[in-house]
Amino acid sequence: MLDLFSDEAPWAEPLAEGAVILRRLVRDEGEALLKSVFAIAAQNPFHHRITPGGHRMSVAMTNCGDLGWSTDSRGYQYSEHDTATGHQWPPMPDSFRALATSAAAQAGFAGFNPDACLINRYEPGAKLTLHQDKDEKDLRQPIVSVSLGLPAVFQFGGFDRADATQRVLLEHGDVVVWGGPSRLRFHGIMPLKPGIHPLAGPYRYNITFRRAL
Ligand code: SIN
Ligand code: FE2
Repeated sequence: MLDLFSDEAPWAEPLAEGAVILRRLVRDEGEALLKSVFAIAAQNPFHHRITPGGHRMSVAMTNCGDLGWSTDSRGYQYSEHDTATGHQWPPMPDSFRALATSAAAQAGFAGFNPDACLINRYEPGAKLTLHQDKDEKDLRQPIVSVSLGLPAVFQFGGFDRADATQRVLLEHGDVVVWGGPSRLRFHGIMPLKPGIHPLAGPYRYNITFRRAL
């Protein structure tokens, strides 16, 4: 039902040129999205990857789609198989693709067609240090990032790791899109605070859509 007076209707919050938070955009689909995440994880379980430097990541990851992102002793890469298990990634659900294309279009990036979908699971204390998403071939394609479950503080910085960052709380159903002049901005997630989310329990989930090839 369309409720013109609801203060919960989605709204856009600009972060920088080419970067926007689409607040609550997928909140109503949150439960269905999480069900799909759990189904994907049943096929290819979340696990903590080891970085090329030998560190165990605090974020647990899985993927769906033609390509998945992972890291091991050889480096960071997109591949058709989970390099840890050898399994092919589960297909990207149509609902995921539609959501990503629509969110990108709302942020000004028409025709986004992701081939990779990385799913991160954060437990209390888990974090993602400042980094750039730069393993994708075509940097004209944006990144679409969907937050589900517990809230987390997202850092959005500049083009040098040491640049000042904006810190914004991302909550269940928020979608961040960054591309164009913001595509290579550093970003990260501060350590997750403990809590219980009615649909996600003690976790935050993040789904990022990318065009890898
Ligand atoms: C990412 O940088 O790939 C994920 C960011 C997030 O978890 O919100
Ligand atoms: Fe990233």
